[in-house]
Amino acid sequence: MSENIAVLGLGLMGTALAESLLAAGHRVTVWNRSPAKAGPLVAKGATRADTPAQAVAANPLVIVCLLDYPSSRAVLEDVELAGKVVANLTTGRPAEARELATWVAERGGEYLDGGIMAVPQMIGRPGALILYSGSERSFDRYEQAFAAMAEPRFTGADPGMAPLLDLAMLTGMYGQIAGFLEAAALVTSAKYPLGEFTSSLLVPWLNAMAALQPAWAEKIESGDHATEVSNLEVNRAGMENLVRAFREQGVKPDLLLPMKTVIDQRAARGLGHEGLSGLVEEL
Ligand SMILES: NC(=O)c1ccc[n+]([C@@H]2O[C@H](COP(=O)([O-])OP(=O)(O)OC[C@H]3O[C@@H](n4cnc5c(N)ncnc54)[C@H](OP(=O)(O)O)[C@@H]3O)[C@@H](O)[C@H]2O)c1
Repeated sequence: MSENIAVLGLGLMGTALAESLLAAGHRVTVWNRSPAKAGPLVAKGATRADTPAQAVAANPLVIVCLLDYPSSRAVLEDVELAGKVVANLTTGRPAEARELATWVAERGGEYLDGGIMAVPQMIGRPGALILYSGSERSFDRYEQAFAAMAEPRFTGADPGMAPLLDLAMLTGMYGQIAGFLEAAALVTSAKYPLGEFTSSLLVPWLNAMAALQPAWAEKIESGDHATEVSNLEVNRAGMENLVRAFREQGVKPDLLLPMKTVIDQRAARGLGHEGLSGLVEEL
């Protein structure tokens, strides 16, 4: 089914989103603060709007992808939103999403928030994912159109849920990057070839460790942190060893130290017999 869709914001991501919608045969009206960015999309069949209000007037679905929530709110300020579905795919905080959802509802619109788990080059291709939350009715109505941009996944009626899960996934990513950077500093300090270490040792090891995490999630959900793998005392000694080895090697363990602090806190409560999953209780 071909839909009428407005896309507000034609940065790198907004342009990729609009292109994927056009490629899927939707009728797309585009607006951007700097009008020149609309040119290539118009050449591909998009309609150019001079103002956000003009873009929204002709389209029941409004996709917003701007720098941040303050700019999204400013762009929607003078727009008639009654009867519209606003899908805001701008990255932000859960509180900002809830606030904007209320603001849109006060103007008679329905609101969906979205967290884009992809870079622009992945949009419209397998592997791209967008998390949605807010109005389930709006999600169901436009799920097929959303699928042109990326796999759409509805995560709940709280508009803040998609941005929260987006931030949680980024948190996992930053943790992995922190581990990689510390490992890289240690390995290069010993002049071992980092490329070989990364592809033949580290990546297979990280994949094996990641495969254990669903079982950890079950433990955290049940509150039972008993372990048959390695308890906190063993990990505490392991972390001491790591930090000491880093210093002897002339490398700063700064990205590891916060984790050591939490392990030490938990062990000081006499919970050294538990597994690492219990650290969530400290956080
Ligand atoms: N790029 C990625 O890999 C990626 C991945 C996931 C999520 N995202 C999210 O997608 C959103 C857009 O990112 P992007 O990569 O497209 O950024 P970008 O290329 O820097 O584009 C920013 C967009 O916001 C507009 N803008 C900024 N301030 C504005 C204001 N005060 N009023 C009106 N428009 C304003 C810009 O307009 P002008 O063209 O006039 O400057 C442009 O359309 C961000 O929230 C980002 O976190 C991006």
